[in-house]
Amino acid sequence: MSQAKIIDGNAVAADLRAAVAARVAALKAAGGPTPGLAVVLVGADPASQVYVRNKNKRAVECGMTSFEHFLPPDTTEAELLSVVERLNLDPTVHGILVQLPLPKHIDSQLVIDSIDPAKDVDGFHPINVGRLVTGGPALVPCTPLGCVMLLKRELGSLSGKSAIVLGRSNIVGKPMAQLLLRESATVTIAHSRTHDLPGECRRADIVIAAVGQPEMVRGDWIKPGATVIDVGINRVPGAEPGKTKLVGDVNFAEAVQVAGAITPVPGGVGPMTIAVLLRNALEACCRQNDLPFEEVL
Ligand code: GUN
Repeated sequence: MSQAKIIDGNAVAADLRAAVAARVAALKAAGGPTPGLAVVLVGADPASQVYVRNKNKRAVECGMTSFEHFLPPDTTEAELLSVVERLNLDPTVHGILVQLPLPKHIDSQLVIDSIDPAKDVDGFHPINVGRLVTGGPALVPCTPLGCVMLLKRELGSLSGKSAIVLGRSNIVGKPMAQLLLRESATVTIAHSRTHDLPGECRRADIVIAAVGQPEMVRGDWIKPGATVIDVGINRVPGAEPGKTKLVGDVNFAEAVQVAGAITPVPGGVGPMTIAVLLRNALEACCRQNDLPFEEVL
């Protein structure tokens, strides 16, 4: 069996960011608004801090205005809600992202529910979740939308294909399944209680792994020629003592021998998330200003 094609998420993400930047430039040249993206981080988790700084850097590179709110770990729920309320009312802010997870003393759903659905670039607000399910104009979660973009680039139409989504989180699994359904795929959602996970997987033309279990999906779970999208980002001990490395939810070395195409970790789905966030901020800005929004890539 020949090796799978390795899907270059860095390259697709760079194309998407460039396309967003061109649209932002055209919008500004026509006297339109400058899209503004606000990112809120509560606490000092180093990985989240790096991630949020990266988001801001990419937003500025695309010609957007970036607003950073780094709040201390002891920020109260009421304080966070008042920050969100100010951003909701600020006409220069078109997109609001509150980085998850939040500290335990804050009710995440309450905070998500408080974001203006028109500015909810994560697509986590129940209004956007409902619109995704019912087929309305929704802002859609970034990681799943990035996965669908990679799949459509690779496969063209997804219509009629069998897809399995491993994982049922609100951030990835559930919206992923809805997006695949919107593309007319035949969708199975599998999870920790699923009987015969390997057998279910082997039936699928498309495998989306989003379980957070390092290298759980083995090579013999994959139908020969299937397309494998690995959403997992797991830090595990590396080859040398004291070193760590990133691995996905798929055993890449095994799966690459069987799949038709596969995303690596890192360099697959990861870079797409921020690129789609910028796309969503552009969409939110256009819709808030009654301007047409056409798909970017
Ligand atoms: N934490 C991990 N992924 C995400 C995401 O897509 N959005 C937000 N807000 N927080 C996250």
